[in-house]
Amino acid sequence: MHTRVADAFKAHPMVNQKHLDLKSMKELPESHAWLSQDGSPSYGSSSSEQVPVINLKDPNAMKLVGHACKTWGVFQVTNHGVPTNLLEEMEAAGRKLFALPIQQKLKAARAPDGVSGYGVARISSFFPKLMWSEGFTIIGSPYEHARKLWPNRYSRFCDVIEGYKHEMNNLAQRLMWLMLGSLGVTTEDVKWDGSQGSCPALQLNSYPACPDPDRAMGLAAHTDSTLLTILYQNNTSGLQAHREGAGWVTVPPIPGALVVNVGDLLHILSNGLYPSVLHRAMVNRTQHRLSVAYLYGPPSNVQISPLSKLTDHVHPPLYRPVTWSEYLGTKAKHFNKALSSVRLCVPLNGFVDANDHSGVPVG
Ligand code: OGA
Ligand code: NI
Repeated sequence: MHTRVADAFKAHPMVNQKHLDLKSMKELPESHAWLSQDGSPSYGSSSSEQVPVINLKDPNAMKLVGHACKTWGVFQVTNHGVPTNLLEEMEAAGRKLFALPIQQKLKAARAPDGVSGYGVARISSFFPKLMWSEGFTIIGSPYEHARKLWPNRYSRFCDVIEGYKHEMNNLAQRLMWLMLGSLGVTTEDVKWDGSQGSCPALQLNSYPACPDPDRAMGLAAHTDSTLLTILYQNNTSGLQAHREGAGWVTVPPIPGALVVNVGDLLHILSNGLYPSVLHRAMVNRTQHRLSVAYLYGPPSNVQISPLSKLTDHVHPPLYRPVTWSEYLGTKAKHFNKALSSVRLCVPLNGFVDANDHSGVPVG
């Protein structure tokens, strides 16, 4: 995977732009000005439809989660059990990181063939224009990079990250069983255990206030290569989800709530019943927006395929088995066409895949 990503970067040199300090820019540079055919903010419609909000203490939570997954592929959760002060500490830690001078942040820059560290959105290489955002990816321990950012005072940052990952892991496992449980799937039907060797990532995203938000893109339309993603967005709107027939729908920030979305691997496990939702992030003129995504996946070498409980002769498996690491390689190469590249050719018995994004213009 790493080599392919590195090749993709080499094919789209962006060395100079990589060092742009967005916060200091008074005008939108041409390199960041999106045209409508690239999927700029002016593309698509806004809709009055609302992404479901689910109280996890509701006795019907499993049913509600299942319905949200089938119809939207994204929902918000309240009463999720993650302490509010941890969310606030996480946000403060992220703000502190992105507030550092650019030269300092670059000391923890992501290596060209690496995944962890500071840099532009990884999907940038698939688009002709750059995004109005900066990111920090944490896989495994944050110590190595944190020490470069704050040589003498890194332990507080690391403690917050570790605490946050721990809480998110618990919540992610709970959510996965709610999502699968509503399809009648039990722990016995899934051979692997979420606690075994999976290596989830934490993605911190920063979207500085932008002088020309209507022509800028925070994070271009994509699906996540995960089982599920849990996103904490601070009180600034920006996240949009795409729904067939409704277009782009803003997912409004609700204090203390978390956004949960279905990723490509859960789409495969559910044999297409749950759409892996296409989403993107917009920017605004006055506020610095921060978000923290917890990317949850299976152990990296376990074969993921449509669950046998969900397939029969009328509903044949729509996808071939694929491991998380293999899928990440496919995604790095084919981006939004990755799902269709692992799709099997099955005659359509009026059976529609909820996830065919090949017709959606994403740039
Ligand atoms: C992501 C993502 C959305 C946001 O990090 O994968 O979709 O609002 N982020 O930052
Ligand atoms: Ni995403």
